[in-house]
Amino acid sequence: MAFPVHRPRRLRRTEALRNLVQETRLSTRSLIYPLFVCPGTGIKDEIGSMPGNYRWSGDLLTEECKAVQDLGVPAVILFGIPESKDEVGSGAYDPDGIVQRAVRRIKKVLPDLLVICDTCLDEYTSHGHCGLVKDGEIDNDSTLELLGKTALTQAQAGADIVAPSDMMDGRVGKIREVLDSEGLSNVPILAYSAKYASAFYGPFREAADSAPKFGDRRSYQMDPANQREALREIALDIEEGADIIMVKPALPYLDILALARQEFDVPTAAYQVSGEFSMIEAAARAGWIDRKRIVMESLLSIRRAGADMILTYFAKDVARWLAC
Ligand code: PBG
Repeated sequence: MAFPVHRPRRLRRTEALRNLVQETRLSTRSLIYPLFVCPGTGIKDEIGSMPGNYRWSGDLLTEECKAVQDLGVPAVILFGIPESKDEVGSGAYDPDGIVQRAVRRIKKVLPDLLVICDTCLDEYTSHGHCGLVKDGEIDNDSTLELLGKTALTQAQAGADIVAPSDMMDGRVGKIREVLDSEGLSNVPILAYSAKYASAFYGPFREAADSAPKFGDRRSYQMDPANQREALREIALDIEEGADIIMVKPALPYLDILALARQEFDVPTAAYQVSGEFSMIEAAARAGWIDRKRIVMESLLSIRRAGADMILTYFAKDVARWLAC
């Protein structure tokens, strides 16, 4: 009994009807805004490849967080740009490190804003890798100790969630163990579980000056060709204690996101990364696309594929658009 009995267009006739049957909605409450913190005071330094995004010194960062919260965005994720870098990334786990100080400062003024810390070494190592280098390779197990310490100092500073983005094997379990043994069993882990070795991170690496100085990240981040492997990575992270899992990048990996949603029942995040942001922003600035419509459509697609929450550099814009 097809046409003319069934006419799908009946439900698309008016805006109110379309709203009534809408299956997916965007909400400001599911957005996480990434922010970069740098040393100094009074600094708001625009990132060339990510226009509208800045490296903030701690004082101005706190003001920016207030603006983010006032827009209704519930969470930020912090990335640190330290004064100096070394072979072992000691700035990452310094109790007085750039991110740890920023968290203390923000939580003191804005206790209700969720502050998430990216737990990784790459912004702090002189070679730019996410782990310790031994004989030209990235050594897994010795890196775990440092990731544990990084997460611990972040949580002790007041981080509401820690988010390991390094892709070392066993890091979620290690971090859980360290946090639990220090009385921080209430701090959730948001695991970058299916993180691909992606060219879409290019602008971020300029922002954080974190491009690897030799080689690339393909011995730890995932091969873009692989789908089933993502499910194994996610399953391992959940077994090790991940509270929330993440797929990253987002739009080019919607198949992974949809599968993750289907296979696992844990909350799922997607990261619309710097390259996804910069492509939209550049085309919009050239006048080639409708910025608002493209941003909303891409985020809605990420939600439809299965993301409960989205990390996006557009969070503030979206919050403004959804408010009116
Ligand atoms: C690693 C990390 C990266 C991003 C988030 N965490 C960079 C990388 O893996 O090279 C990229 C995020 C983005 O591109 O927006 N600490």
